[in-house]
Amino acid sequence: MDRAVIAPQTSDVLIRPTNAQDVDAMVAIYTHHIARGVDPSAMHDIEPIEPEDLKRRRKNFRDRRFPHLAAELNGTVIGYAYAVQFRKRPAYRYTVKHSIYIHHAHQRAGIGRRLLPALIDACAAAGFRQMIGYVDAGNGPSLRLHESCGFRPVGHLPGVGLKFGKWTDVVMVQRSLGLGVAAPPDTWPAPEDSYAG
Ligand SMILES: CC(C)(COP(=O)(O)OP(=O)(O)OC[C@H]1O[C@@H](n2cnc3c(N)ncnc32)[C@H](O)[C@@H]1OP(=O)(O)O)[C@@H](O)C(=O)NCCC(=O)NCCS
Repeated sequence: MDRAVIAPQTSDVLIRPTNAQDVDAMVAIYTHHIARGVDPSAMHDIEPIEPEDLKRRRKNFRDRRFPHLAAELNGTVIGYAYAVQFRKRPAYRYTVKHSIYIHHAHQRAGIGRRLLPALIDACAAAGFRQMIGYVDAGNGPSLRLHESCGFRPVGHLPGVGLKFGKWTDVVMVQRSLGLGVAAPPDTWPAPEDSYAG
């Protein structure tokens, strides 16, 4: 196993797939962080997220084999992470992008270091080959977490965000999964590869 994805053994935190009952807790975690403007990938979400919307999205991702995981402590969801398709066109079907949120009262306790490696493993097991994250350049904890989990910065997007009246930069981070580019995927070649762009 990749050294970067070995999780701490000391925690009582359970990492498991999300279910419909987790939605309220996930909405609460998300809403707190979005109000603080920490997630560059959510900057288009000017409306507060609705539980029904998150329920639908969660089911849709799960049905399409995109991992959607929760971190649970004593029966309470204290974090979640999920992957979605990087881009819609079929050429990009082996690449995912992801998001991760830890409840504000449980940050810096090693939960991200449990949850993100689990998401990485789940994405690799599902057959994806590349994983991409967009991190606000000022989000030191997230940059550190991603570095610890084997991501490297592959792009700097200056001035793409506007938060609280200030332009902000985003760092694009990436890591490979499984065999990465060392071998074609199991289903290779697929007929649509000839035209997918
Ligand atoms: C970013 C986030 C996911 C990190 O999860 P976490 O559980 O708080 O982080 P962990 O305790 O597992 O720590 C991960 C690493 O970051 C470091 N870190 C965490 N918080 C830190 C802080 N405030 N300052 C400096 N380093 C920090 C840890 O020391 C650890 O480093 P290591 O891997 O070298 O040991 C979490 O803080 C969060 O949900 N933030 C708000 C939402 C967000 O920013 N999501 C990511 C969007 S890209």
